Amino acid sequence: MTDTSTTGRSVLITGGNRGIGLAIAQSFLANGDKVAVTYRSASELPAGILGVKADVTDEASVDAAFTEVEAAHGPVEVLVANAGITKDTLLMRMSEDDFTSVIDTNLTGAFRVIKRASKGMIRARKGRVVLISSVSGMFGAPGQINYSASKSGLVGIARSLTRELGGRGITANVIAPGFINTDMTAELTEATQKDYLTKVPAGRFAEASEVANVVRWIASDEAAYISGAIIPVDGGLGMGH
Ligand SMILES: NC(=O)c1ccc[n+]([C@@H]2O[C@H](COP(=O)([O-])OP(=O)(O)OC[C@H]3O[C@@H](n4cnc5c(N)ncnc54)[C@H](OP(=O)(O)O)[C@@H]3O)[C@@H](O)[C@H]2O)c1
Repeated sequence: MTDTSTTGRSVLITGGNRGIGLAIAQSFLANGDKVAVTYRSASELPAGILGVKADVTDEASVDAAFTEVEAAHGPVEVLVANAGITKDTLLMRMSEDDFTSVIDTNLTGAFRVIKRASKGMIRARKGRVVLISSVSGMFGAPGQINYSASKSGLVGIARSLTRELGGRGITANVIAPGFINTDMTAELTEATQKDYLTKVPAGRFAEASEVANVVRWIASDEAAYISGAIIPVDGGLGMGH
């Protein structure tokens, strides 16, 4: 699935120092794009990927990261809002801080980076925004009221953004992964992982690269007429939701 028509673009992925974000960065790099990722903690990045420090809960830090990327690669043409956290617990035990901190990172964090990226995209009259949601956003999951709310909220962002900026060559789409082998799923108990596995028609968890390939494609010229869509990458778990 190599797309040779779209290459050499300035791509920024938030939370790209590990997991799905790093796999997305490697996929764009292999496509010949200029790739930058944000990281919070110090990390080793593969050669060819520019790391910029940013915390998506802090507008000033987001702005500084974009300025650094713009200086090195030019205005961001492809933005992947991937940074995310979980603080799973049942409703009765969920504190207001458990709820708002997940919203602040996963939903408001996406708003902050999209707002910052939109300036350059509007000027260029082109752009790709890809929001990494979750099957949990559309399907729901016990213990994830905070996380599901943040992830379904990304659909509202993508659809309103499409209505605001769709006429300027900018698309915004949501990718909804199911269970992917990363640090996030490694935190689940073995019993929970086994239980989840029985619910996935594909009978397996996915590798991060399987999400990355879809992100790269939705950001390509081949997908120019798709916007406001939710694309599940979940082995059938959500049955299209
Ligand atoms: N793994 C799955 O099965 C799965 C399924 C569906 C959706 N997703 C979504 O996919 C995305 C990536 O997940 P993953 O499994 O790769 O997670 P991960 O391995 O836990 O990585 C999360 C990334 O987000 C970054 N991050 C967290 N809070 C941040 C903040 N305030 N500012 C900047 N960066 C921040 C982390 O940076 P640090 O390294 O500095 O902490 C890290 O790079 C998330 O949005 C997640 O909700 C994952």
